[in-house]
Amino acid sequence: MFLDSEEERILEGYEGEAKARALKVIVKVGESLGASRLIKIKHAHISGVSYENIGDSGLEFINNFRLLGAKFSVPTTINPISYDLLDYNSIYGLKLSREYIRAQELILRALEDMGAELILTCTPYYTRIPERYNLKVGDHVAWGESSAVAYANSILGIRSNREGGPLALMAAIAGRTYYYGMHIDEERIPRVEYIVESIMLDEAEAGVLGEIIAGIHRDSRPPLVNALFKNNPSIKEFLAAISTAGDLAMAHIRGITPEDPRGEISERVNITIRDIERLLEERSPIGDVDIVYIGCPHASLDEFKTFIRMLEEKHSRGKARIIVSMSRSVFMEALSIGLVERAQNIGVSIVRDSCLIVSPFSRFNRDVSVVTNSYKAYYYLSRRGVKAYLARTRDLAKYI
Ligand code: F3S
Repeated sequence: MFLDSEEERILEGYEGEAKARALKVIVKVGESLGASRLIKIKHAHISGVSYENIGDSGLEFINNFRLLGAKFSVPTTINPISYDLLDYNSIYGLKLSREYIRAQELILRALEDMGAELILTCTPYYTRIPERYNLKVGDHVAWGESSAVAYANSILGIRSNREGGPLALMAAIAGRTYYYGMHIDEERIPRVEYIVESIMLDEAEAGVLGEIIAGIHRDSRPPLVNALFKNNPSIKEFLAAISTAGDLAMAHIRGITPEDPRGEISERVNITIRDIERLLEERSPIGDVDIVYIGCPHASLDEFKTFIRMLEEKHSRGKARIIVSMSRSVFMEALSIGLVERAQNIGVSIVRDSCLIVSPFSRFNRDVSVVTNSYKAYYYLSRRGVKAYLARTRDLAKYI
């Protein structure tokens, strides 16, 4: 791999041992993939920071970099953690020991010492991060959260591979990543187009479409998707699904992705609404459920507003709990316009900084049933032993 003189100096330790170690790993991974050089990044977003997910070995890995004196070379933000820092009880049924909380706090302090901004959300794009750090179409970043990576590449035109937590951390320290995959113009040009019958896809339908495409797309280039999405949260759910059910880091969405999908389309695949409905029906709840959940990836302000309005229009209520997860920044906006109060008046619990998946929710709630409009939440909750179901947003009111 070609390295410039500055990179050689970093590797020789002139900018500290931590930066040298981080760059060494980036170079090794890049070389194993056949990358020809490195690329400077403008921002990093680190996932894998929930103690629930990474445990003591992850804590040790992060803390070791702090002990080596590591500092992030670029603005760096982080993903949700294992509980809501403002209210440990906002996630139903959690019992957290003092040691558990101390371990999560150590992870946060280590990241903060290295220079991270603790936004604690998987939707940095709803917290004005791109505007604040002047991230524009064509800029290179290293993001670790797969759903955010797909959103960055497909909607913002900001380029990132799916770095995974440790690599995003090392890229943040080194200020660089390997020039490979989604960073390269040609690798972003689609060759296979998926054409979906012209109906407006809601969040759950969009998620199932993402699952279908991830299941059949075999090309190394991103798919070109010709579909109509009802709103921005539907697009968010679609992109979270393609990166959950498969390893896609991008989809060109006709009319939305800010890059021209030039090049020759060699294959066209039709997907019908019936294909989507069939999978959705298989996953719909048959009777009552215990919890109705939205906000995976974290909800936007508009999404939260629309959901609360829908619940307010429903006059009778059953026993289901309602949980919405969102960033603290969206929560503060909602608070300032009286939306949090309206939500609390109808019994909605708001989870900030975390979610039902990266928290220990599933360990404490094996017997509960959850219905969600998010394919990603459905996928992970099911795999963690929770009785999870998927439903269209408008149908969620039926279960409340
Ligand atoms: Fe975000 Fe948790 Fe879903 S981190 S993408 S809300 S699994």
